[in-house]
Formats: sequence, C-alpha cells, structure tokens
Amino acid sequence: MSPRKIIIDTDPGQDDAVAILLALASPDEVEVLGITAVAGNVPLPLTQRNARIVCELAGRTDIPVFAGCDAPLKRKLVTAEHVHGKTGLDGPQLPDPTMPLQDKHGVDFIIDTLRDAPSGTVTLCPLGPLTNIATALQRAPDIAPKIQDIVLMGGAYFQVGNITPAAEFNIYVDPEAAEIVFKSGIPISVLPLDVTHKALVTAPRVEAFRTMGTEVGRMVAEWTDFFERFDKEKYGSEGAPLHDPCVPAYLIRPDLFTGRHINVEIETTSELTLGMTVADWWRVSGRAPNAMFMGDVDADGFFALLTERLARL
Ligand code: RIB
Ligand code: CA
Repeated sequence: MSPRKIIIDTDPGQDDAVAILLALASPDEVEVLGITAVAGNVPLPLTQRNARIVCELAGRTDIPVFAGCDAPLKRKLVTAEHVHGKTGLDGPQLPDPTMPLQDKHGVDFIIDTLRDAPSGTVTLCPLGPLTNIATALQRAPDIAPKIQDIVLMGGAYFQVGNITPAAEFNIYVDPEAAEIVFKSGIPISVLPLDVTHKALVTAPRVEAFRTMGTEVGRMVAEWTDFFERFDKEKYGSEGAPLHDPCVPAYLIRPDLFTGRHINVEIETTSELTLGMTVADWWRVSGRAPNAMFMGDVDADGFFALLTERLARL
C-alpha cells in the first residue's frame, strides 16, 4: 500500500518534535509533504524555528517548513512556556537551524497543496491550535473534498481539561478555529487527552530512548526529562503523557487505538468552559456524529512502535 500523504501542522513543543520524528522515521506508511508551524506552545518565530531543528535532527532538510498564523482567529494567544520552557524545546542545548524557512505562508502551502491534489488524498495532522487549518478552510472552501482525513491531537472527554478544568490546550487556544474544523463535514479523527494520558513516558520507556545510542534517542530522552517534570508534579503520575506522537502512531498502527464515531461540538461562548470538546460519548444528544473520537490505546504497543521507529533515524 502506498504511503499516506500528510501535512503536519504543529507548535513544537517537545511532544510535537517526537511526533515529527516518528512520521519522518516511517516513510513506508506516511509521506510528509510539508510542515506548517502555528503559534501555540510558544510564539510562531519559535515554533517555525523548532520545526526546522527537528527536521535537521532527522537528517531531513528536504522537508519544506512554513510559518503559518501567529495568533488565534479572534483571541489573544495563550502559550505554554510553563510546560515546554522558554524556547518550546527546552532540555538539551540546540543550535539554531541552518535549513531555510519557506517564503510561502503556511496557510497558502496547505491551500496550494490541496488544490493540486486528487480528491481525498491528503491527510492533515494538526498537533497544535487549529488556526492554520481553519484559516485555510475559510479562505478556500474548495479544498475540503481534497482532504482524506484530519487526524488531530486535541480535546478530551473523561479527562476533561489540562489548561482549564474544562478544556485541552490546543482547542482552548483557538476555540473558534476548532469549531470551524469540527463543523466542516470533513472526516476527523481525534486523539484526545483520554488517550494521551494513557501514553505515559515512564522511566523504563525514557531509558529505552536514552540507551538507543543515537543523537535522536539522546535528544528525545532529554526533551522528555524536561517536560515531564511539570506533568509528573501536576498528575503525580509515573511519567508525562506523550500527546502528539499519538497522531502519527494512529496513522501507522490504527489497531493500537480504539474509539467511537460520535458528535463533538466546541464551546466558544462560556468563559467557564471555553474550548471544551463536548463529546457525546454516550450518544445522548441525537446530534449527528462528526468525529472518530479515540478512547483507549495499547500503551506498550505504542512505545514499542515509537522506540523501534526512532532507532531508525
Ligand atoms: O494538550 C496537549 C497539547 O498541547 C499538545 O499538542 C502539546 O504539544 C500542546 O500543544
Ligand atoms: Ca502540540
């Protein structure tokens, strides 16, 4: 079977970085057409820099990296330096990237790539706020039929929220963008906190990265050492959730995940629950299903896949 063509939309973020590495390490399953950076964990100048650093780490300076939107559609940007550090990739010392940033705006890259593609052949993989995706859909509604699936990390049901009691960060930062995406009618697969909170980077799993004997393994272990301090303290868990790599893992091994096709709507008005993904898990609303919402993951299988693939780089 030919690899699935994907565009990664991202706000690196240590977990975004691992997700990008997993995708680049899996050319038989996914072909990365390009990476579009969005403001999220840290401001856009840093997320586009970090995306290029990760491509260079993977030895893939051929991957075009674009800067997209620097702020949510209607709201002030909320960032997460408290989790990811000032640079967004705190942990190891990193040199500035030398590969160029593409001149084209990330949203134009998404639109142009989809317009040139046959119907239903490109998968969008948002790993941050949905600003770039929503902007592309608003500016060029004709691209919708070209999208095979939008496979995103975001939202929560049983795990409710991580940036507020009710909302997950990616959706909370730009709830209006999320509403546009979830109301688009495009097939959507959601990897929410319900799944990512079961993908915990425990000590043995970090050591499997560290003892890989490669630069990639060392960097992933040091990124994990840094960002897990916040989540272990907050949740008292034995490791931090590795959120974004669940997206490429779902494309490579969908059998590792289980979920339901349900209705998911986004809270965009109440300040108390702004950004909440109102997931009709028990199908009580009568609202039409619009998303494949994942609920569980085989965590050992996920980390076995991740470790095996990262060792290839
Ligand atoms: O809530 C987790 C999500 O927010 C992840 O994508 C992480 O990188 C941050 O963007
Ligand atoms: Ca992210």
